Amino acid sequence: MSVLMFKGGVPVRAARTARSRASGSARGPAARRAHGPSEPGRLRRPVVRAGLGHPGQGSRGATVRVPAQERGRLALLEPTWWAMDLPLTLVSGPSVADVDRSLTSERTPNGHHKEEERAMSTLGIIGSGNIGTAVARLAVAAGIDVVIANSRGPRSLAGLVEELGPRATAATVEQAARAGEATLLSIPLTAYDALPEGLLRGRTVLDTGNYYPFRDGRISELDSEQETTTELAQRLLPGALLVKAFNNIMAHHIPQLARPAGADDRSALPIAGEDPAAKARAAGLIDRLGFDTVDAGTPAESWRFEPESDAYTRIYLADPGVPVDQMMQAPAAPVPTSELAALLESSRRVKVAERTF
Ligand SMILES: NC(=O)c1ccc[n+]([C@@H]2O[C@H](COP(=O)([O-])OP(=O)(O)OC[C@H]3O[C@@H](n4cnc5c(N)ncnc54)[C@H](OP(=O)(O)O)[C@@H]3O)[C@@H](O)[C@H]2O)c1
Repeated sequence: MSVLMFKGGVPVRAARTARSRASGSARGPAARRAHGPSEPGRLRRPVVRAGLGHPGQGSRGATVRVPAQERGRLALLEPTWWAMDLPLTLVSGPSVADVDRSLTSERTPNGHHKEEERAMSTLGIIGSGNIGTAVARLAVAAGIDVVIANSRGPRSLAGLVEELGPRATAATVEQAARAGEATLLSIPLTAYDALPEGLLRGRTVLDTGNYYPFRDGRISELDSEQETTTELAQRLLPGALLVKAFNNIMAHHIPQLARPAGADDRSALPIAGEDPAAKARAAGLIDRLGFDTVDAGTPAESWRFEPESDAYTRIYLADPGVPVDQMMQAPAAPVPTSELAALLESSRRVKVAERTF
């Protein structure tokens, strides 16, 4: 597997890491499996309790407290996130009409295409659940406007956009699909088919989707390993510039691990996709959101970080041996680019038909 890493949004060719060469290494899933579940003081990585902090925001930002009713619901997902104050830069956010206007007028006074200019600042998000909301929070904290949609329509998002602040706009699926430089698609796999035809054609799409048989039913093309989930998604969304991202990390670990570029304890996320420009765009965006990236290759190779693979969610647990029923409360620990690259390289293909969840 040829691995390209992005640190601080800049592509870096990955050297084979010491860990991937050294069979005696004491870190990573192989070592964790060999040692069995971790015990106190052994194989535990530093627990991450701090949240996101973007350079310079402290002085410009304002403290935003989450409305009590939202806090109660979301605290179930990530208690430490809600225990802190989130610095947000206060600027006027775009209305849906602004977003539409910006996409239809051709050029700005300096001659740039208006859409390119917006590209620097806006992310469309389809799906306002665990992952969509976690990414939306990082985006507004990073000074990126979000145009967010779900299946029930903009009215149902009033509480969320109020909590997110002036950078957030509740929108229809069509508006979120047209907004900004890229769209985060974060809906159940079975809902892809229900999206309007051609909705995401030509768009850079960060696809967070996973196949969970307990939720999605059995999908024979995936069970037979004829296709990866990303290949299936690409087939369902023809013309979209799909980049698999944010699918191998639990939603509550996203805010725990996001860090400014250059931070010593920054984590990396894998991406996969066919289009190099879309992958570079996705890596740039993810960098602004707080993570380095490791390019795991094409959609066909994305099995390396699909559910139950060696580069899936457990890698971000401070205690990788934590029982399944405690994973949702378990804290995260950083996974740097070199470690993720090694995990992707050594990942073994899961027998999808044998997966039960
Ligand atoms: N949760 C995790 O930790 C995690 C981790 C990695 C990957 N993933 C994957 O990421 C995706 C999202 O997961 P999630 O946990 O965030 O899901 P979730 O909490 O169930 O939220 C799903 C969202 O999708 C929206 N939706 C469903 N059908 C839609 C449609 N046809 N058009 C527009 N929006 C639609 C829902 O709208 P309503 O709000 O109106 O119902 C909801 O906002 C899934 O594919 C999941 O497998 C999840």
